[in-house]
Amino acid sequence: MKMINTMQKYKIASVNFKNRIVMAPMVPFYLKANTDGSMSAKQITHYSNFASREMGLIISQSLAVSKKYPIDGGACAYDRNIHTPYLREIVQKCHENKVRFFAQLAYPSISYFKGGSINNLSTSEIVTIREEFIKAAFLCEEAGCDGIELHGANGFFLNMITSDIANSRNDQYGGNVSNRTRLIKEIIKKIKKNLKDDFLISFRFGCSWNLILDLETINELIKSGLDLIHICSGIPHLKSLELSSDYEFNQTVYTAAFLKKNINIPIIAVSNIQTINRGNFLLKNNMCDLVAYGRPFLADKNFIMKSISDCNYKPCFNCKYCFWYSTDINKCPAQRRLKNNL
Ligand SMILES: Cc1cc2nc3c(=O)[nH]c(=O)nc-3n(C[C@H](O)[C@H](O)[C@H](O)COP(=O)(O)O)c2cc1C
Ligand code: SF4
Repeated sequence: MKMINTMQKYKIASVNFKNRIVMAPMVPFYLKANTDGSMSAKQITHYSNFASREMGLIISQSLAVSKKYPIDGGACAYDRNIHTPYLREIVQKCHENKVRFFAQLAYPSISYFKGGSINNLSTSEIVTIREEFIKAAFLCEEAGCDGIELHGANGFFLNMITSDIANSRNDQYGGNVSNRTRLIKEIIKKIKKNLKDDFLISFRFGCSWNLILDLETINELIKSGLDLIHICSGIPHLKSLELSSDYEFNQTVYTAAFLKKNINIPIIAVSNIQTINRGNFLLKNNMCDLVAYGRPFLADKNFIMKSISDCNYKPCFNCKYCFWYSTDINKCPAQRRLKNNL
């Protein structure tokens, strides 16, 4: 049997990926967008620099689909004239290097973990938000993006709407799983109906640690034509999953592996995977289809190239607090080590 590894090609619909390594969406907090929501020259350079680092797919930081509230990092995707050009520039750099690029779309500011609620929005406000996501997807396609990722994890708006904890609405967008996924299904269906088949849609799913509920939720989403699911942490239904003490990955990766056995669309696993070798293990054991890394890329942008000679290369120290969430990235010990050539 042929062994699968991170360096092997992958195909979704008619879209080829040069390998199975994904750069996870990450706001570079030390860089700010322009006041009109377009990315600044430094932000564009940040992505352009990564485009030549050999991953198969880059997913952008969260981009706001609405101007109603600010979003971390400040980059937006709601105004065709203002926001298409910067995306086009990044896409071009990625495609020159045969790297695929997805824009991550998010509804800004309302976050479960910051006390936000979706329950006091009227049905027509929910419908307006749905249209904002759809409009943003159209804009991204026009900019040449290979797809979008709907941000439904980490307590963000689309995570709250799928969650039986955060969603206590009593209109058609609340109640059972079918209703709680309705908004996302409507977004996906409209995009699929109007845009070309090779424009891919990923959903970043915030798992609840209740595996059966997560499977049910994802099966609902799949019905609408979703291409790809990215398993991340969400609003916890249970305190934690009971994993055996010798299990080498965390609950998020465990959930991805469980879902991989039970659904038939491609799955991205993420969170503390740390090395290419551990990513290879996940693929060889059929626990996911693509492997995403976040902090390893921040710790060393040459993470993949260095891993080619040492697949156990682990650039990130997994600090209790990641300094990339602040504006002072010089405190990142991995960066300091590289600068000092240690
Ligand atoms: C500085 C920073 C910014 C992040 N920004 C986003 C974001 O915009 N959208 C998102 O879905 N996740 C975001 N994340 C989470 C990452 O995508 C990823 O899930 C997380 O870092 C775990 O993967 P890792 O252990 O490989 O770093 C961010 C993480 C970091 C460290
Ligand atoms: S600050 Fe720590 S956790 Fe964050 S990228 Fe650097 S080494 Fe990794």
